[in-house]
Amino acid sequence: MEYITFALAKGRLAEQTMDMLEQLGITCDEMKKDSRKLIFANEELGFKFFLAKATDVPTYVEYGAADIGIVGKDTLLQENRNLYEVLDLGFGKCRFAVAGYASARALLGKNNDLRVATKYPNIAKEYFYHKKHQTIEIIKLNGSVELAPIVGLSDVIVDIVETGSTLKANGLEVLEDICPVSARLVVNRVSMKLEHKRIAKLISGLRELAAE
Ligand code: PRP
Repeated sequence: MEYITFALAKGRLAEQTMDMLEQLGITCDEMKKDSRKLIFANEELGFKFFLAKATDVPTYVEYGAADIGIVGKDTLLQENRNLYEVLDLGFGKCRFAVAGYASARALLGKNNDLRVATKYPNIAKEYFYHKKHQTIEIIKLNGSVELAPIVGLSDVIVDIVETGSTLKANGLEVLEDICPVSARLVVNRVSMKLEHKRIAKLISGLRELAAE
């Protein structure tokens, strides 16, 4: 039997995915141990699992290094890889938003070279250029994006908002909603054909659990 390999975005998404898979009888005890190991297998069932940085999961799946990936819609939108997005798993829910000081609201929708700091330049571009028809200057950051308007680096940010507490603690607020985000199951295009039976069974099991 060929292995079916999962690439999981490390952290909470991976933990929630393994909990869901466990309900389908797919377990990986080796993964629960605290170790520096990167790849784990359930030999009996023919599954392999590895943990990767979220932004790399679509890359592993596109190239077929993993047959299946579990990753946030935020990453899929940003990476725009050639793969099948087959299922919304219903966890890891948050949203993309434009945020900043309330006073920055007046700058939105005007062609005034708004400065937008973000970890997600493609999403910011798509939103401002195509939906708002507003020219912007993108400032790419790699984290703690909320700092940008506070220290005067940008007018607004495009970022993930989950509870809203980071914005609130820093005197910032959501100015506009962009789109909802949640964990998605993605499949390599070739694997979908070659391993159709096993992958389809898995998808239908997870779909039932996601609907509960
Ligand atoms: C994310 C996001 C926000 C925060 C939102 O950051 O970029 O900063 O979580 O969550 P909240 O609405 O519940 O406060 P993350 O923790 O991934 O770290 P980062 O600053 O490195 O992007």
